[in-house]
Amino acid sequence: MDKGLKPKPAFLNWHRGIELKIISGPTSKELAENVSNLTGYSNVPVISKVFPDGESYVRLDGEVKGEDVAIIQTTCPPAQDGRLLQLAFMADAAKRAGAKKVTAVVPYLAYARQDKMFLSGEGISVETIARMLKAAGIDEFLTVNLHSEMSLKQFPFASRTVSAIPLIADYFVKKGYKGAYALSPDKGAMYIAQQAQSVLGGDAGHLNKSRDRYTGQTVQTAEGLNVKGQTVLILDDIISTGGTIIGAAKILREQGAKHVFCGCVHGLLIGDAEKRILDAGVEEIVGTDSVPGNISKVSLAPLISQALKGAV
Ligand code: R5P
Repeated sequence: MDKGLKPKPAFLNWHRGIELKIISGPTSKELAENVSNLTGYSNVPVISKVFPDGESYVRLDGEVKGEDVAIIQTTCPPAQDGRLLQLAFMADAAKRAGAKKVTAVVPYLAYARQDKMFLSGEGISVETIARMLKAAGIDEFLTVNLHSEMSLKQFPFASRTVSAIPLIADYFVKKGYKGAYALSPDKGAMYIAQQAQSVLGGDAGHLNKSRDRYTGQTVQTAEGLNVKGQTVLILDDIISTGGTIIGAAKILREQGAKHVFCGCVHGLLIGDAEKRILDAGVEEIVGTDSVPGNISKVSLAPLISQALKGAV
């Protein structure tokens, strides 16, 4: 998990004062439009289709010659492999059309969780993806709550990750939950609970989670946690099957928490995860438009706009 390392300073001034063109990737059209509106940068639409054999096609519908461009394209499921290829094809198209510098803005980066060789014989998928994107023409990379910030050290381009956790915590403050307890479902993600705590103003803590690398089974435990009578917000970077949040909610209920909510940056919600989380007693699930869907109630547009302008 991310240890809350400082972003590479070089990124902070990349775009300060430089006009970019925003290329609207097919998976993040609305987000890209919102970023264009907030930054005042013009938007280049993308025409996309999938051929009958399943292969992807993209075409930039605007001029980028001599421009610095930012391609906004999330790579969440379903079809994340095709979405990554669309991103690579857009970068290639931009370079061939004469773009000077190509920044990829990828709110959810697929394969980020395979960030090390957990078992012998494995590769490091996230590094392979980064090298593929570099080969396609990407010069700089911006993402949101990358699973492990350490991965950036191996990326072949200038890159950074920014955190949407304060925005999610602010959503709950606006709903009247100032002072709620911020809980991360595992110790490595304690930095997430701390970021939320700085907005919520209550206490923060974590559960412990261990995973069997062969079966994928996880075990969650609570040590020294006291949330009796409290409103608790469980925060994680990703919700996939929902198992982690459901396990955490069960522990919180056993401990006598009064209300349980959950917030995540990337709400993949595979299968019936949303229903199972709600059935486990979580009153509301809040995610971002990194994964567009039912729970994406917080927009990343302000955060991405600020990052592109060098303001955060
Ligand atoms: C893992 O370390 C991540 O931070 C998330 O906790 C995990 O991906 C959630 O997966 P699931 O929803 O399947 O439990």
